[in-house]
Amino acid sequence: MDFKLTEEHIMIRDAARDFANSELLPGVIERDDKQEFPTEQVKKMGELGFLGMMASPEYGGGGMDTVSYVLAMEEISKIDASASVVMSVNNSLVCWGLDTFASKEQKEKYLTKLTTGESIGAFCLSEPEAGSDATSQRTTAIDHGDHYILNGTKNWITNGNTADFYLVIAQTDREKKHKGINAFIVEKTWEGFEIGPKENKLGIRGSDTHSLVFNDVKVPKENRIGEDGFGFKFAMKTLAGGRIGIAAQALGIAGGAYELALKYSKERKAFGTEICNHQAIAFKLADMHVSIEAARLLVMKAASDKDNNGNYDLSGAIAKLYASQVAMDVSVEAVQVHGGNGFVKDYHVERHMRDAKITQIYEGTSEIQKIVISRSIINE
Ligand code: CAA
Repeated sequence: MDFKLTEEHIMIRDAARDFANSELLPGVIERDDKQEFPTEQVKKMGELGFLGMMASPEYGGGGMDTVSYVLAMEEISKIDASASVVMSVNNSLVCWGLDTFASKEQKEKYLTKLTTGESIGAFCLSEPEAGSDATSQRTTAIDHGDHYILNGTKNWITNGNTADFYLVIAQTDREKKHKGINAFIVEKTWEGFEIGPKENKLGIRGSDTHSLVFNDVKVPKENRIGEDGFGFKFAMKTLAGGRIGIAAQALGIAGGAYELALKYSKERKAFGTEICNHQAIAFKLADMHVSIEAARLLVMKAASDKDNNGNYDLSGAIAKLYASQVAMDVSVEAVQVHGGNGFVKDYHVERHMRDAKITQIYEGTSEIQKIVISRSIINE
């Protein structure tokens, strides 16, 4: 087993680290405070190739492997998890989903704009009554010959207002249950498409999360992805890869909090010495370091499985479950190491703690990951 990164991997990781420190760090506290979307920064991410990393070069993508993608996700998430969720949704759910399952015409029309950041994408599965229980879609897409008529509401949509193109999952034939679900590419400007109010969130406050309403939106048949009834599998397969990206985000949030705690503990003095010299703090640092190393191995295993045709449904769920718990635990401890300063926005760790929580909720809660893992091990 080779744990060494290639020169190219190291180059990508370092480029993401430099970008995060020079472009995302300035203003990250203010953006979080004001719930301000990182518009300029996301534009630059597109120019640098961070928004379509794994997509085919033929459609403007980077043609990179999943390992490269998770390395970049980790570095960006160390500094700004709001920017990294934009990156994650655009890369793993939207670009990967289209690159893998869309028609040539759909890729030419939509993917080429999404890989470069000229347009941003959103993935619309969750509904007020269908979050974890994704087969219970209430949004309907009724077949009218050469088009579908879309009606319903989607909730908690990342890039809800910023996106130009939306991958919308809807029920076409209720009798057929999950086999009657389809996925569609919907454009923001289409009549009957309304963007609901922005959610006021605990964390990832720089990202824009909205509900969406579809009132008799006419969707041309050529905008359905794959064969009739493929929508649920499309969503599940795409989400399975997305979970690796969120696991990398969680790893980055943990890593960012840990690096700040380590630095602070070497500077802050109490009882006559730097606090890292007190065993109470040193042992916390050791625990944080070990759990991050373990999470990184799981994230890399899942990325490598995806790159080598392994069962990444399972390894991705394991990586997300574990890394998101590590993000929570490490960020709480990082606040503790900082003491009173940890509770203050200027020290960044309280933001990491708030951002960590969403990694246990979106793209499948921790409980959903346990369903995926337990089903897989029981049916093995
Ligand atoms: N790949 C391909 N097919 C899959 C699959 C996968 N990973 N997982 C399931 N399927 C298929 C099954 O094979 C089955 O098809 P067949 O009948 O043809 O065999 C079909 O899908 C139904 O599968 P299940 O019976 O397992 O379905 P279920 O109702 O028991 O649900 C679940 C499974 C794992 C709980 C699923 O509902 C799920 O993942 N729920 C969570 C949804 C989720 O992650 N939402 C996040 C929203 S997106 C988001 O957060 C984006 C963002 O903005 C950040």
